[in-house]
Amino acid sequence: MNALELISLSKSFGTQKALDNICLSVPTGSRTVIVGPSGSGKTTLLRMIAGFEFPDSGSLTLNGQTLVDATHAVPAYQRQIGYVPQDGALFPHMTVAANIGFGLADSGSNRTERILQLMDSVSLDANMAGRWPHELSGGQQQRVALARALAQQPRLMLLDEPFSALDTGLRSAMRKMVARLLENAGVTTILVTHDQGEALSFADQLAVMRAGRLVQSGHPMDLYRYPEDEQTAHFLGEAVVMPAQIEAGWANCDLGAVPVNSNGFKGQAQIMLRPEQLQVTDASTEGRGCHAVVTERDFAGNTCTLTVELHSQADHAARRSFLVRSTGMHAPPAGSAVQLSILGAAHVFALP
Ligand SMILES: Nc1ncnc2c1ncn2[C@@H]1O[C@H](COP(=O)(O)OP(=O)(O)OP(=O)(O)O)[C@@H](O)[C@H]1O
Ligand SMILES: [Mg+2]
Repeated sequence: MNALELISLSKSFGTQKALDNICLSVPTGSRTVIVGPSGSGKTTLLRMIAGFEFPDSGSLTLNGQTLVDATHAVPAYQRQIGYVPQDGALFPHMTVAANIGFGLADSGSNRTERILQLMDSVSLDANMAGRWPHELSGGQQQRVALARALAQQPRLMLLDEPFSALDTGLRSAMRKMVARLLENAGVTTILVTHDQGEALSFADQLAVMRAGRLVQSGHPMDLYRYPEDEQTAHFLGEAVVMPAQIEAGWANCDLGAVPVNSNGFKGQAQIMLRPEQLQVTDASTEGRGCHAVVTERDFAGNTCTLTVELHSQADHAARRSFLVRSTGMHAPPAGSAVQLSILGAAHVFALP
């Protein structure tokens, strides 16, 4: 069952179209991640779901209840939706404990206990309870905002870049902790992030926005492997994109004949491979890979990025360089002659 249904939502600010006909279903208990460049409408969409922004047209429903349509809107405070805004937005005149306790119904000793539990659940030390928001780091403020939203036991949790102020280690630990916390509580979640790794690992469903439009949505692995267009491909990771002539399940390109999932398409198109699909082996080994030379080796410990150049091209002016991932310890040095082979199939972009 779908918890949330967004139906043809549109919103303009003056001449600026912030949301353009957004349709999305969010299954109950799932984690949906929204990614997209700055200004693509992510925050506007979350604010609309929370009830702080209203659509020019379209509607949205939560667990079958219409929250907003052309004729009426349920006010934000009646929606039972937890919202952690991009800037945390703590009440500056309230302590950490008072901020977190703001949404709690019970008073007395239970209340203090519950606040301390919530602080613990977001890894905030109990001795911070009496501090003021301006006495906290950005990351600590984000965690207080998260605890405050959790206190309301929401039906739906909206998180707008909640980990952006945390350093890498804490960020990944917090992400796992929050994912577990929300999953155990069975709370449907929508998270906005700029971090592609975070998006791919947190999401059950990934939605890519661009210029107010929802470009593509689906399982993160499908979007990574079969992106709708080149921009989406680059947005979700490094991509090797090149022109090819497609015929009968093969793409003829600079790398020779590469298998493709083309759904019967024939003709000229752009194809994409992820760098981890390119493999280098020693030039002297048996194989049918393209001959190439390593021109650069960028060693980064457990992985190594190689730049390789095809050197058996008939047309030397059309020499192409490719990025290839290799395990750090076995990567051939610059100047090595190698063979370049492909793992799996290339993806063909739909024609515009
Ligand atoms: N209240 C407002 N008045 C006018 N324009 C607005 C308003 N809120 C947002 N916009 C515009 O709508 C567009 C979408 O803004 P939004 O904040 O939703 O982007 P975003 O995807 O969250 O970006 P970021 O990644 O930078 O947070 C932008 O062009 C923005 O300038
Ligand atoms: Mg935003």
